[in-house]
Amino acid sequence: MRPLNLHIEAIDAVRADLAEIADVSRRQFGHGYFETGILERLELYRSTARLVVAHEQSRGTLVGFCLTYMLPEDGLATFLRAGSGDEQGPASILRKRDKAGTIGVIQTICVVESLRGRGLARTLGQEAERELVRYQPSDILVPAWSLASSTPSGKMLDGLGYSKLLTVSKYWGDECDEGRFRCPCRTSECVCDMVLYWKLVQQLGASYAAAS
Ligand SMILES: CC(C)(COP(=O)(O)OP(=O)(O)OC[C@H]1O[C@@H](n2cnc3c(N)ncnc32)[C@H](O)[C@@H]1OP(=O)(O)O)[C@@H](O)C(=O)NCCC(=O)NCCS
Repeated sequence: MRPLNLHIEAIDAVRADLAEIADVSRRQFGHGYFETGILERLELYRSTARLVVAHEQSRGTLVGFCLTYMLPEDGLATFLRAGSGDEQGPASILRKRDKAGTIGVIQTICVVESLRGRGLARTLGQEAERELVRYQPSDILVPAWSLASSTPSGKMLDGLGYSKLLTVSKYWGDECDEGRFRCPCRTSECVCDMVLYWKLVQQLGASYAAAS
């Protein structure tokens, strides 16, 4: 297999040209996800949002991306959506750090189908962590798409030291039911869940500093 000649960089999500990302997103996640799942998040978290993008240099095409941002103070309930942020539930362990606004997020890790299974998602995840380090996060959350108890990014996230914190069933259900995006997995109803992966960040800054 030919080795990948990748160029990976983090770009300012607000000023970026998003046409390529919109195109890859439509192919992977269906029509409308770019607008509801990516653009709306970029707007909501615009002060810290960054996009980590991977290009295959010989083809010059976008082959993967993900989005990073910090939650603002008390931002967890909005992020988890009404009704799912049970105060007594697993998310309660984050309450103090949520109040301090020190929780980072990595979302929508996406790799084009033709290049899956070659470690690209793992590399994107690591680059995203490197980006978040500048905000000295206490925790990083990754909302992972899950269908029928199968979470494609789960193994990769386990490998990066994340653990499952909670599951929000039908996390994208409102947009899906309203037809704001056309999820390829939808039956007569929304069937996708979100598994929230979590990492407590202790030595992340130190390990990235040592590696660079
Ligand atoms: C999930 C996804 C990002 C993985 O990308 P990738 O570049 O193929 O992943 P990697 O090559 O870095 O693989 C990391 C590990 O995950 C495993 N893995 C990758 N895709 C998998 C899948 N669909 N099901 C189960 N395991 C999978 C790999 O085998 C690898 O494990 P290993 O290191 O023990 O061999 C990619 O399949 C994708 O874009 N899927 C659609 C969108 C999606 O689900 N995104 C996640 C949203 S958080």
